[in-house]
Amino acid sequence: MTSNYDRYTTAETVCETFQYNVKGKTILVTGPSITGLGYAAAAIIAKFQPKTIIFLGRNEQKLIEAKESLLKINPELECKTIECDLTSLIDVKKAAKEVLELGLAIDVFIANAGVTNSPYTITQDGFEVQLQTNYLSHFVLITQLLPLILRSELKRVIMLSSGGVIWGGVQWEDPNYKKNEYDGHAAYAQSKTAMTLFARYLAKHYGDQGLSAYSVCPGAIPTELGRYYSLEMKVEFSKTIGQGCFFDDGSFNYDSTWWSTPSQGVAVVCRAAFEDDLQPNGAFLNNCIVDEEGCPVHCKDPELVEKVWGWTNELLGESLSE
Ligand SMILES: NC(=O)c1ccc[n+]([C@@H]2O[C@H](COP(=O)([O-])OP(=O)(O)OC[C@H]3O[C@@H](n4cnc5c(N)ncnc54)[C@H](OP(=O)(O)O)[C@@H]3O)[C@@H](O)[C@H]2O)c1
Repeated sequence: MTSNYDRYTTAETVCETFQYNVKGKTILVTGPSITGLGYAAAAIIAKFQPKTIIFLGRNEQKLIEAKESLLKINPELECKTIECDLTSLIDVKKAAKEVLELGLAIDVFIANAGVTNSPYTITQDGFEVQLQTNYLSHFVLITQLLPLILRSELKRVIMLSSGGVIWGGVQWEDPNYKKNEYDGHAAYAQSKTAMTLFARYLAKHYGDQGLSAYSVCPGAIPTELGRYYSLEMKVEFSKTIGQGCFFDDGSFNYDSTWWSTPSQGVAVVCRAAFEDDLQPNGAFLNNCIVDEEGCPVHCKDPELVEKVWGWTNELLGESLSE
């Protein structure tokens, strides 16, 4: 199906079009802090009568704030909050158990929480922090919650990927930068590439059970994502590529054409979540359209799609069964 969608399409427009698919559904969002895209998506979806929104976040206060704010938008909504720090697999497995205990079929799982360009950090589980936060912990959550997803009507998994995948693919032999020199952008690209490959793997192997999985780039939206960028990096970026997106003191220039609004950013999430039969299953979306051509080979090579499953299971090893 061709569409008139583009980077200016809003999530309200998309949700209105597919409101019959939003109504009565259960949506799980990771990383729902009120200033970010996960909350932005939930807040717009909430206007179209979903039944339940489940928030998984690492900060209790932020979870309460997100829930209260959501219920002001739609007091009829059921909103569940579960604490989960994605840098801890113990936490992740505990959160998965809590979601399983809710017993709700999950129509849409939105793997949104993420970090970029972090200083080099190895988590308590032994993984580079962006790899674990953005990818590995979502992998664990999704695989453990698959029975609930497959039981639902929509059966969708949405990965917040990034146009940053062009900075590089998965470092199959050295994902935690134990040998090679660490590069924050390459590590981000690695994690987002892995998410993109994983979406394709899920589509390929669970598509016959009705599951659809997509990876999406929301564009550039002013949020807390750039927390690890120095003032120098922001100013330099703003003056070269970023169309004046930052002022010289590092604050956002919201008037810059570089930025999309949160609603424009999450329109692609809503499209992947609610459009009927969006093809091809497993696709990468950008600017609110399917953009397989713009997706680098290292994010779509069928051999790598197969490889990512075994590689991830091997990497997680015993921590999966503990
Ligand atoms: N904004 C953009 O321009 C852009 C572009 C491309 C892709 N994306 C992707 O979109 C997604 C959302 O980004 P955003 O812009 O909304 O960023 P954000 O404002 O920084 O929000 C990220 C969310 O992830 C959570 N998070 C980070 N580390 C976590 C951890 N260890 N455990 C649990 N939650 C954790 C944050 O929680 P705290 O609030 O507690 O830190 C926050 O809720 C990310 O995956 C990002 O890579 C964004």
